[in-house]
Amino acid sequence: MSLMQTDYTEAPPAPPNVMIIFGAGGDLTRRKLIPALFHLCAARLLPDSFVVLGLDRLDLDDDSFREQITAPVRENLGTAYDDEVWERLVPRIQYMKIDMLDDSHYERLCERLSRIDAERGTEGNYLFYLAIPPSLFGKVTDHLGEVGLLHQTEEDWRRIVIEKPFGRDLESAIALNKELHRNLDEEQIYRIDHYLGKETVQNIMVFRFANGFIEPLWNRHHIDHVQITVAESVGVEHRGAYYEEAGALRDMIPNHLLVLLGFLAMEPPNSFDAKAMRDEVNKVLDAIQPLAPEQVLTCAVRGQYGPGTMPGGEQVQAYRASHDVDPHSHTETFAALKLTMDNWRWAGVPFYLRTGKRLAAQYTEVAIQFKRAPTIMFQDTDVDELEPDMLVLRIQPNEGIQMSFGAKVPGPTMSIGTVNMDFCYEDYFGNKPATGYETLIYDCMKGDATLYKHADTVEKGWEIVQSVLDVWAALPARDFPNYAAGTWGPPAAGNLTKNDGRLWRRIEVPKSRG
Ligand code: BG6
Repeated sequence: MSLMQTDYTEAPPAPPNVMIIFGAGGDLTRRKLIPALFHLCAARLLPDSFVVLGLDRLDLDDDSFREQITAPVRENLGTAYDDEVWERLVPRIQYMKIDMLDDSHYERLCERLSRIDAERGTEGNYLFYLAIPPSLFGKVTDHLGEVGLLHQTEEDWRRIVIEKPFGRDLESAIALNKELHRNLDEEQIYRIDHYLGKETVQNIMVFRFANGFIEPLWNRHHIDHVQITVAESVGVEHRGAYYEEAGALRDMIPNHLLVLLGFLAMEPPNSFDAKAMRDEVNKVLDAIQPLAPEQVLTCAVRGQYGPGTMPGGEQVQAYRASHDVDPHSHTETFAALKLTMDNWRWAGVPFYLRTGKRLAAQYTEVAIQFKRAPTIMFQDTDVDELEPDMLVLRIQPNEGIQMSFGAKVPGPTMSIGTVNMDFCYEDYFGNKPATGYETLIYDCMKGDATLYKHADTVEKGWEIVQSVLDVWAALPARDFPNYAAGTWGPPAAGNLTKNDGRLWRRIEVPKSRG
């Protein structure tokens, strides 16, 4: 796998292929996919024989599609944009108008792909990227299957990449996986969770397993608890219709937050091989104790934001006033859970998870609080209590790792202050522009599924939150909105930790040094 290879200088280009994007007229293509291909092109990781074929209903040709995406892609690339790279990439971008639901259009797609293979030497290797609603996954793969486009041989490969949401609960995830399996073997399916593409998420494993000092401490004997915070200051923007159906829990926890938890809690795999990694992550998910319905009332908290003032002073409206949102909506925009695992490493160590929109900062971190040291030797000093040591893995922004510990305050008496040792990625590795999709797309082209989700991992994620979804659906929240935009969520979230004699870490987002 290509862990930690954004410095791709040593990596070979991917094999010849065509990347076919269904729903190429959408936002994802301009914001993430083409910019990611641009970075891969800049790093010379795209093969010479490579074509991107955008598919959508818009009446465009190759030139007008290229024209349409140029400005937004350029804007998304910001200072990373470079004419020379764009001139290399743009002739490889093609477009075809298609009605995804019309089977006659798939014959034309076959012809077009054969022509591309003949003209561009792409060797019949196809990466189908479904940037379309999940309700269409089954229909599109059925059509692709009918015309033989999913049939791979010894000489060529056919893979399909799909974006979350992978279902909206356990039952629908199982149904979706069944639909996909009608035409595809599991190893042809690449389920993207873009958190797996983040360098700092991958670095959780490197930090744990490439440093001999950390692993002996990484267990219930030394760790008191873990806090995972994925806070967003943005609201639901133009995604009200989607979010109304999803809510914070579905949108973030069974996928992104459990990715973080999986890497934090897994046993060392024997290699970075996809199966070895998946087995270890799945063991963690299996060990998480699903909440019984009565536990949901004490171990899960939901919230919805009302109007408020963001830290920068901006006044923002309530979730219920957002576009495409029901003015009486019961959808949660904040979710917090306390999860525990019943295994040798983690028994008795709570993992507190929280995520929400319109919180006081745009910030993702994992905080690991170590057990307090005994205080007996300080009994005759001015020290009343020893602060627990804390390790903070900053996932984004200002990616880095911080260790807080006690140090003697200089002076004649014994006094201890909390000090920080701080590692910032950009100090060592600079600021590498990336969308998070580069590694994922490159890995898929190479057939490396390590950073993709298998059907069973997706289903286990839903299993963990299913009882919360059920209880919340059965008991609509009567107190919504229950937190003001620009705060850290509903007061009840504080009780999750307080009831255990703990506190959420006070978050101060460190400024980038750049
Ligand atoms: C997406 C969710 O999967 O992840 C969004 O649908 C959320 O609601 C986003 O904003 C968060 O991603 P990131 O990379 O900004 O943390």
